[in-house]
Amino acid sequence: MLNRVDENIEKFIKDLDDDRVIELYKNISSGKKLRAKLILKIADNQTEKAIILASIVEMIHAASLLHDDVIDDANTRRGQKSINALFGDKTAIMFGDILYSKAFYELCNFSTVISQSISGAVSKLSVGELLDVELSKQFNSNVEKYFDMIYKKTASLIEAAAYSAAFLAGYDSDKFALYGKNLGLAFQIIDDILDITSDDKTLGKPSMNDYKEGKTTLPYIYLYEKLDSGEKQRLLSLFGQELNEKDKEWIKQKMETSGALKECFTLVNKLGNEALQSIQEYKNSDLEKIIKDMIQREY
Ligand code: FPP
Ligand code: MG
Repeated sequence: MLNRVDENIEKFIKDLDDDRVIELYKNISSGKKLRAKLILKIADNQTEKAIILASIVEMIHAASLLHDDVIDDANTRRGQKSINALFGDKTAIMFGDILYSKAFYELCNFSTVISQSISGAVSKLSVGELLDVELSKQFNSNVEKYFDMIYKKTASLIEAAAYSAAFLAGYDSDKFALYGKNLGLAFQIIDDILDITSDDKTLGKPSMNDYKEGKTTLPYIYLYEKLDSGEKQRLLSLFGQELNEKDKEWIKQKMETSGALKECFTLVNKLGNEALQSIQEYKNSDLEKIIKDMIQREY
């Protein structure tokens, strides 16, 4: 079914009737499609509409990553050169605008409840990205600020996708929204953990990159809380810096021995369980699997 989403996105791109846009789209590699999977699994009684909604949400997600790679000055995405690395920032920004304006055009065919839910989430995404940029200016030890940022930057679109799919299917959309929100929060924390525990090849982008980019992700916030004062100073001195192998090893080892990573995993499992609890009456084993796979993923 996911291939039908890919086909539908290609059709939307062709509708734009511009060879350059078609060429550019060929340079975007396919991702995990978590949001599309979620929509298809929730609204499985509304397949045709679900495929279109999934295509719209994946196009918005792809657009947000095009802009994010410009903002983060990232050269790789999903194991390939990013659009900004290949064609420059201006092209990447405009291509992002093309993808998300087409997505909004198609979203107009849905009910007000759905179109407001998805478009409202895109405002949150943008505010979340702004917060991310602001927070990256100095070391952040505030867990609440981190959660507010990841809710907006990542979880809001997953929440809106689950809400809208449930609305389409005729289910209690608020319950599915809570599932999506907790799934999204857990997803971002796993992303932040993998940056530390995984390698470049598996991730399809450089590992140990967040802290260098000025991102004090949850593992770093927890680690800071657990270090002695000398170690705290060392961690602070590395913030936003190009890390050498010795520093990387020190951080990785401290993340393990201090229990910072373990604390993150405990929280991820708690969020996963809360997500499942909110929709338990629907007994949807596919949605349980999405949570399990997301927690156990390697990239
Ligand atoms: C990746 O974060 C970024 C996001 C999940 C959202 C980015 C949102 C915007 C740029 C605003 C919305 C814009 C449009 C056009 C809809 P990350 O940098 O932590 O993850 P990464 O390591 O995968 O880059
Ligand atoms: Mg980024």
